[in-house]
Amino acid sequence: MIRHLIAAAVMLAAVPALAQDGARVKQQIATASSPGGLVKVALFRDGDGRVTYTVERRGKPVLAPSRLGFLLTDARKIERDIGFVAAETRDFDESWEQPWGEWRRIRNHYRELKVHLRETSALARAMDVTFRLYDDGVGFRYEFPDQPNLKTANIADELTEFAFAQDGTAWWKPAFLSNHEEYLYSKTPLSAVGTADTPVTIKLADGPYVALHEAALVDYSGMAVARSEGNTLRAALTPGAGRAKVVKQGAWTTPWRTLIIADDAPGLYMSHLMLNLNEPNKLGDVSWFKPGKFVGVWWNMIKGDWTWARGPRHGATTANVKRYIDFAATHRIPNVLVEGWNVGWDGDWAGNGSSMNFAQPTEDFDADALAAYAKAKGVRLIGHHETGGAASHYEGQFDAAFKFAADHGEMVVKTGYVTEAAQIERVDADGAASREWHEGQWMSNHHLRVVQAAAKYHVAIDSHEPIKGTGLQRTYPNWVAREGSRGMEYNAWYDQNPPEHEANLVFTRMLEGPMDFTPGVLSLTGQRGTPFQSTEAKQLALYVVLYSPVVMAADTPENYAQHMGAFQFIKDLPTDWEETRMLNGAPGDYTTIVRKERGGENWYLGAITDEEARTLEVPLDFLDAGKTYLAQIYRDGDDADYRTDKRHSIAIETRRVTSADRLTLKLAPGGGQAIRFVAPGKR
Ligand code: NOJ
Ligand code: CA
Repeated sequence: MIRHLIAAAVMLAAVPALAQDGARVKQQIATASSPGGLVKVALFRDGDGRVTYTVERRGKPVLAPSRLGFLLTDARKIERDIGFVAAETRDFDESWEQPWGEWRRIRNHYRELKVHLRETSALARAMDVTFRLYDDGVGFRYEFPDQPNLKTANIADELTEFAFAQDGTAWWKPAFLSNHEEYLYSKTPLSAVGTADTPVTIKLADGPYVALHEAALVDYSGMAVARSEGNTLRAALTPGAGRAKVVKQGAWTTPWRTLIIADDAPGLYMSHLMLNLNEPNKLGDVSWFKPGKFVGVWWNMIKGDWTWARGPRHGATTANVKRYIDFAATHRIPNVLVEGWNVGWDGDWAGNGSSMNFAQPTEDFDADALAAYAKAKGVRLIGHHETGGAASHYEGQFDAAFKFAADHGEMVVKTGYVTEAAQIERVDADGAASREWHEGQWMSNHHLRVVQAAAKYHVAIDSHEPIKGTGLQRTYPNWVAREGSRGMEYNAWYDQNPPEHEANLVFTRMLEGPMDFTPGVLSLTGQRGTPFQSTEAKQLALYVVLYSPVVMAADTPENYAQHMGAFQFIKDLPTDWEETRMLNGAPGDYTTIVRKERGGENWYLGAITDEEARTLEVPLDFLDAGKTYLAQIYRDGDDADYRTDKRHSIAIETRRVTSADRLTLKLAPGGGQAIRFVAPGKR
């Protein structure tokens, strides 16, 4: 519903205000504030014709003057001799409904400031910068009209700066390394950040929390940031295979560079800025996609007991998959993922997907019979397209692959790009071969080609080793999940996730959107019996804390049979939400999230901690007043501890509660707690 839409074209003449920045005199050329006046942006022009912008919140500076501009590989940079032409503002306020998600309704309320600039030198290139100001942050992007002196922009890099007004603490992971998005987070002074993937989350020393990221990454390369000096981070675009990192033609825009700004860490999570900066749904009715849980022929391969490739330990056999379908049907889990079902895995597939065939099952996987068997039991298979990084080879099979998926009743396909950074195989129509980065411009387009090809067949996509999430699930709601950080799989391997990892994810990676983390390994053991750094209750809490509309019960049926008490929480869990609230939290330390089932009355709570035991007090005022709920509590046992075999100590109990109650959540070291609040008359 559009509440109101005011398009006020206000021409702001050059405002004469002067601001001192060291020796340099800057003239303010435009300014605007967010609808509630909390966030303010101002633009300045210095004596050399350089344009900078500042951001403040609640009257305190967040960004000091920060530069704008571009380096080009074949022309003079766009940075100096920039003249102010005009500026205009416009107000926008509407609310829209998500087809699935953490919130049903989203309000999009901003003031837009568009600043028209043009070089005063001979090239006279025009560049607009558009800011959208929200009370919880700001997004801005560059917009270039089609123009004779910039027919093709060969972008070497952006000169965009984020010059934080003071030092602070930053949570970040490194960019451009071989394992792309899959690194642990570091907590350092802002002034010690290196080259970082976004979102980077920052607590300014005497100021708010800020999350720096981007929205609507379309036909452009992903932006990392590199600290230049002091507290200044500068855009560092992901390279492409050519000389320029990004090539644009005609009229073009960059993605939105975004800062979510909030008084506390939960405020970052509660922001809808990123979704709002994306275009509305372009796919129309996507009600064919139903959020849901899945089990899968997976953990045994990740642990190394089974293989994706054919042979005596092949996982995706007809008999194994039937057992998983039976398990899913018994426990009302609607989907079963099967990996290693197709021809192409034999040999060295990682980094070499040129043999993968996504329409040809192996001879020991009877796809037709299994599709019929699953359908009869009310279960769907989830397909898997592991490209090994051979992205063009995959594109050549889109129609065959997605037709095969649809013909076999698959509503979701998990994709994969297992290869090292800068090793994506691209082959153009003329046969020219090159190597691309996972987050480069070409891959930003590849992923959109995937989701659009899949949508034609009513297939949704869960991408692994993906490009970062930038809110494009608003525009393409069949792009339902992605990996894009270290998931559960690392707990099976040599280099496990430490207890703080998920509390880091919540305030960094999860700001990108849904993550296919694959929680729920209740056996808590990886390869060679190595125990996880988690309690059993924490595995349950992750279902509420780490949102995805397609969420895996990642352990095996045999292992779940040993933990049926705890498994009940997973069985009961919905995967689509009316409303979400973060009740408390601090990056890398802890959080508590509550969610209300979409179309239902029940609420679900997840609380997690890092390696420290914690006691969290939570008021239950999110519940409906005057109703008595049955709280089904899955908490760490009194002796639970991730460092001992008491990691399995879990207490399952029920209590009657009302909205007037407060609960004391006692979390063990490496622990968590999950609660289902059943409304009167519900089950
Ligand atoms: C890595 C993915 O994260 C994992 O889920 C998948 O099973 C393997 N690649 C094989 O595709
Ligand atoms: Ca992975």
